[in-house]
Amino acid sequence: MALTEKKTGVSRQFAASSAVAGLARDQVASALREWELSFLVPDAALVMGELVANAIVASGLADVIKVHVGFRVAEVVLAVWDRCDGRPLVQKVELSLETLDLREENFDDNGGWGLSIVESLASRCWVEPTRPSGKWVCAALKLEERR
Ligand SMILES: Nc1ncnc2c1ncn2[C@@H]1O[C@H](COP(=O)(O)OP(=O)(O)OP(=O)(O)O)[C@@H](O)[C@H]1O
Ligand SMILES: [Mg+2]
Repeated sequence: MALTEKKTGVSRQFAASSAVAGLARDQVASALREWELSFLVPDAALVMGELVANAIVASGLADVIKVHVGFRVAEVVLAVWDRCDGRPLVQKVELSLETLDLREENFDDNGGWGLSIVESLASRCWVEPTRPSGKWVCAALKLEERR
């Protein structure tokens, strides 16, 4: 189902900046509370934060990022749009504290977990390309698995 056909939802647009992740997490939390789905807030806020962080990296300064939280009968859909035509690429990394390199000079080398975390929390993930450029990166959380 296309993003625009979601049953109900809230969408916002931001200028790409590091502040967007926190604002988008707040948007997720307030929408879910309004829909009486507070039990989803921790997982949904984490997923949204990862999708937004990726969109910020993919975007140029002052590019627009769009954030959507949708609620259908059986699931909540989290979606983030960016203008970049590059595609998310899930890296099969082992999520383990033992493999972390905590030396300060190597700290940036510990990335590559974001989408693995999203995939493990979401029941499905997908990308919807948009014209003339960009895409929605989407993740759905099923309600019945979490009540
Ligand atoms: N919105 C996006 N647009 C373009 N490429 C993306 C997008 N999201 C993810 N990617 C690509 O997929 C890769 C994997 O993303 P992922 O979130 O798993 O890891 P990361 O962002 O590199 O590191 P981390 O999330 O742990 O800080 C990214 O490095 C990037 O190349
Ligand atoms: Mg990431």
